[in-house]
Amino acid sequence: MSKIGIFGAGYVGLVTGAGFAALGHDVTIREIVPERVDELQAGRLPIYEPGLDKLFEQNRERLQFTTAPEEAVEGAEAVFVCVGTPATYSGDADLSAVWTVLDDLQGIASDTVLVMKSTVPVGTGDRVRAALDTRGLNEVSYVSNPEFLAEGSATHDFMNPDRIVIGSDDEAAGDVVEELHAKLDATVVRMDVASAEMVKLAANAFLATRISFINEIANVCELVGADVDEVARGIGLDHRLGPHFLRAGIGFGGSCFPKDVSFLKLLAGNSGYHFQLVNAVIEVNELQKRRVVSKLQKHLGQLAGKRIALLGLAFKPNTDDMREAPSIVLASRLLAEGAEVRGWDPVARPGGLLTGVALCDTVLDAVRDADAAVIVTEWDELRELASPEVRDAMRNPLIVDGRNLLDPKAVEQLGFSYEGIGRASSPFSGLPETAEPERKPA
Ligand code: UGA
Repeated sequence: MSKIGIFGAGYVGLVTGAGFAALGHDVTIREIVPERVDELQAGRLPIYEPGLDKLFEQNRERLQFTTAPEEAVEGAEAVFVCVGTPATYSGDADLSAVWTVLDDLQGIASDTVLVMKSTVPVGTGDRVRAALDTRGLNEVSYVSNPEFLAEGSATHDFMNPDRIVIGSDDEAAGDVVEELHAKLDATVVRMDVASAEMVKLAANAFLATRISFINEIANVCELVGADVDEVARGIGLDHRLGPHFLRAGIGFGGSCFPKDVSFLKLLAGNSGYHFQLVNAVIEVNELQKRRVVSKLQKHLGQLAGKRIALLGLAFKPNTDDMREAPSIVLASRLLAEGAEVRGWDPVARPGGLLTGVALCDTVLDAVRDADAAVIVTEWDELRELASPEVRDAMRNPLIVDGRNLLDPKAVEQLGFSYEGIGRASSPFSGLPETAEPERKPA
């Protein structure tokens, strides 16, 4: 078993660290925020991720936390970079945390492999190689090993990967990283560094494209009287297409898709190529969030003074992550229309991100005297939303289901008005009645 150093105790660093510990490796996670290290040492996780607490508990003896970079580097066979690479104002990746890690590698043994897990633009490998050389670390090898962990199922994704992508220009270094994963039953794909970097961006952009595609199909379904959920089922059974990422809704959010699609667009643009498709994916996603506002207006008219409950605030269920959550855009649009906005989420605590929104502890509090309830995130707790209790608590029993979570007919039977996304039973869907064309007399 090997010793592994991890830089960064965010989602990726913590899940990767716990995962490698579960595979039997000794892991030291280095984090720059001392309070975070204190929390972790005291056995408390700073993020909500299902299953992660159990993985930590079971592998405590193989997990160390420190603020000292030399402790993570010392004796490590591989050092994983798991730091954030947020977008800058220009939309490009901010790699400053990556460069800080390189500055912190003093004492690294020459046979250690530096592994990039963070999502970075294609070409970063070359820049890191040059930066290592400048620091006199010519012997340290470099490998790109992108992560494919989805929040909410990240521990499962680590232990059951569809594939492990290893990009290296040095075969022995790639072998080291492959060996670290030996206990996992997964296909290992070896390639050069730039291609591995591109796999990550292309995979996320392709998934995002599927979402924007099905969302546009949903919007057309509303105009022609079809039901997007049925359409997605019919599409997904084609083995060449598959059923995944065909859930229509109010668009994708999170720390990855919006950022990575924009990285790809800019990477192409900076290289002289206009990537039309990803531009459309981004635009469709932006507009999709706003369609909820027009759905509310169709039912309620002017939204000024209307009370709207946003149910589910995190960007997806089973996470407390609010980054690029559609709820933020929606809340801000509704507030701009003069609506009174109330919010509920079982886990996320949005703080300043939802300034002006009254946060409620229960769904019932959020919907009390509301003119509409909007399902923004498909938390399991919301499956039972359509109840007589909720209906009676609302001023106007309207549900706008931004995730097609509920059964429209059952909801309507309970006396609610219902609006989904691209669903046939919507009162606003269906072609207008057209008269028989007049026949000309012979
Ligand atoms: C995504 C990828 O799924 C991971 O493979 C990748 O490793 C990760 O980004 C990353 O780059 O780190 P994540 O953003 O955690 O993971 O969550 P997803 O489950 O992919 O969902 C992203 C967004 O798409 C959410 O807002 C979700 O509600 C939305 N979505 C997803 C849909 O609107 N429809 C769908 O059918 C699926």
